[in-house]
Amino acid sequence: MVAILLLFLTLPVAVFTKDVKCPEGFLHFKRTPTAKNNHTKNWCMKVSVYENVGNRDNARSVCLDDNATLTIPENREEYEAISAFIRKQNISEPHAIDGQMSQRCKLKIFRHELLRLKINTTAWPGDCNIKKKLFTFDDANTDTTFALTQFANNIPIGYGYNQHGGPKIFWMDECMKMTRTNDTEDRAGIKFVGLSWCMGVDGIDKSNIQFEGRLINSVLCGRHPL
Ligand SMILES: *[C@@H]1O[C@H](CO)[C@@H](O)[C@H](O)[C@H]1NC(C)=O
Ligand SMILES: *[C@@H]1O[C@H](CO)[C@@H](O)[C@H](O)[C@H]1NC(C)=O
Ligand SMILES: *[C@@H]1O[C@H](CO)[C@@H](O)[C@H](O)[C@H]1NC(C)=O
Ligand SMILES: *[C@@H]1O[C@H](CO)[C@@H](O)[C@H](O)[C@H]1NC(C)=O
Ligand SMILES: *[C@@H]1O[C@H](CO)[C@@H](O)[C@H](O)[C@H]1NC(C)=O
Repeated sequence: MVAILLLFLTLPVAVFTKDVKCPEGFLHFKRTPTAKNNHTKNWCMKVSVYENVGNRDNARSVCLDDNATLTIPENREEYEAISAFIRKQNISEPHAIDGQMSQRCKLKIFRHELLRLKINTTAWPGDCNIKKKLFTFDDANTDTTFALTQFANNIPIGYGYNQHGGPKIFWMDECMKMTRTNDTEDRAGIKFVGLSWCMGVDGIDKSNIQFEGRLINSVLCGRHPL
């Protein structure tokens, strides 16, 4: 009787103190579980090096190969730990991270451009406000609140249009990227989120210096522990 009671008392303890293990190549992060990160207590992240992950579907696929998704740092401690790892591994920046502009909001911005209306995504009412649903995310296990305060510039950043006699053909940088991981001086309060063109360098002349800024050769992937 006593033995059975003891078994019931010790079993849950054994389950909860079990070692959390990430797959090889992933860093382990403890998180505060909340409704905004799908109650995630442990999260594994990896910086995967692969060419042209500026192309969003390439980036997604590279993560998927490790049973992971695109992810982002949830707080400054995570950003700093990942940056330190990146410096140690000498991986060049920028890095593709989770987050892409909602297509409906992109259309709203194009329409404002066409009509020459003021664009201010920090002031806009409704879903296209930066604090609302201006961006959509693949990963449900990361609270995106912190990252959305880390843009170095107002959104939209890079955008414009081309016109060759017909309609104005609009374009915009809309995929989130992580920057400044290799800065070594005063890292306090670095704003590290930028935007890049979601097509990467597909179909363009890679030797053209103008497109060098579009080269992204690493992506931040995240998954649950093993
Ligand atoms: C949230 O976490 C639960 C438990 O791990 C999981 O079953 C569910 O699929 C997660 N939700 C999403 C949207 O990933
Ligand atoms: C991904 O998950 C599948 C199915 O569970 C498994 O067969 C495969 O080995 C996993 N791959 C990696 C890289 O973890
Ligand atoms: C680090 O990477 C840079 C740029 O890719 C390269 O020029 C440099 O030689 C590398 N340094 C080391 C120590 O590997
Ligand atoms: C990081 O910065 C150091 C010092 O400025 C530089 O030597 C190195 O090449 C940079 N590494 C990468 C991968 O850009
Ligand atoms: C956008 O709106 C915010 C909040 O109202 C304001 O502080 C900011 O100056 C505006 N930015 C521009 C470029 O007008």
